[in-house]
Amino acid sequence: MTKTAELFPIEAVREQFPALRRTCNGKSAVYFDGPGGSQVVKSSMDAIYAYMANGGANLHGSFPSSRETEKIIADAKEAVAALFGAKPQEVAFGANMTTLTFAIARALGRSWKEGDEIVVTELDHRANVDPWLAIAADRGMTVRWLPVDPDTLTLQHEQLDELLTPRTRLVAVGLASNAVGTVNDIAAISQKAHALDIPVAVDAVHAAPHFAIDWDALGADLLLCSAYKFFGPHVGIAVIRQQLFEQLVPYKLAPAPAYIPDKLETGTQNHEGIAGIRPAIEFIASLGRGETLREQIRSGYEAIEAYENALAEQIRTALAKIDAVTLYQAGPDVPKTPTIAFRVDGWTPQSFCEKMSEKYGIFIADGDFYASTLAAKLGLVDSGGWIRAGLAPYNSAEEVERFIHAVQELTQK
Ligand SMILES: Cc1ncc(COP(=O)(O)O)c(C=O)c1O
Repeated sequence: MTKTAELFPIEAVREQFPALRRTCNGKSAVYFDGPGGSQVVKSSMDAIYAYMANGGANLHGSFPSSRETEKIIADAKEAVAALFGAKPQEVAFGANMTTLTFAIARALGRSWKEGDEIVVTELDHRANVDPWLAIAADRGMTVRWLPVDPDTLTLQHEQLDELLTPRTRLVAVGLASNAVGTVNDIAAISQKAHALDIPVAVDAVHAAPHFAIDWDALGADLLLCSAYKFFGPHVGIAVIRQQLFEQLVPYKLAPAPAYIPDKLETGTQNHEGIAGIRPAIEFIASLGRGETLREQIRSGYEAIEAYENALAEQIRTALAKIDAVTLYQAGPDVPKTPTIAFRVDGWTPQSFCEKMSEKYGIFIADGDFYASTLAAKLGLVDSGGWIRAGLAPYNSAEEVERFIHAVQELTQK
């Protein structure tokens, strides 16, 4: 472990996650299912409770609970803006990333025409694919796929030059794969897209819990994520460049606000959920140092990244030594999230995960995780996809040892 990883205040972090007290068949539960949704930090739960207990309200009322609700939402947007280096007015909330992406796709698609084109990737979660395919089908557009190399599990960037044309209206790409953890070089992709004035929609859902994101550096015009993946509640988040957002005409009710960011927030929002977002971001910031919230967030992520990567490396190294295990991961030079996809000879992914929870109290997920294009390309669909172990900052070195020991035991002949 590096010095930074060793200094990670794991005990203090674990104390902030009440769900870690859960047991399973007499053992403390080990949550290695973070990529499907992280556990929630207590300060976020407290904020959700406080919002409801103190008297919630709808917006635009001339009374205290309504004004307080507006303030809570504004504070949450300010924190999300600090998370990505955006402006608060560029931040909108919604049910989840998928629903927001469908709404944005429909809104952008109003000006798209037959024969226009979009680019999606084979590596992405389908939430950053199907909303674009749906609008493309509605408009008679051409869909172009940026392929994934099935051996290296990386996107074949060099093909982008041929895929982008003067008729391309959008490139949709994920920052990190929720299935195999590959982190994509979004800056290189946006540079090519921007040279042709094409906006880039980045799915940051899987990346957001693991490392600092600067949407300027990525060159993202749209960035989507979900607070339930980074220690908060089930609320989707869309960040849209001001100029693009101002031009956007979402489907909305006539009397609802027509200004940004509210115009994308159809209906009454999940106020209590939104109340839990800022504390989740402040939890990340609390692990770092700096003058501003943004600086603290960046430094907090450095601590998380060093810690998680050290643990992930231990898992990768141990699993690579087991003959019955096949790892699905990009090469050592490719940055990866601490998400480890694998299969075990003699087990279906589902039966393996079942045994891991029953016998060892370790929660890991199986399936294609909606990265179904990749699963199909690798021929894994009919055999149950992958087993996925994903780390979060509340996971300890002891849990990692427990996990490795369990896999070793189940694969012993
Ligand atoms: C990479 C990625 N994108 C998108 C989604 C969908 O997010 P949501 O559940 O907020 O719609 C997920 C959820 O697992 C994901 O991992």
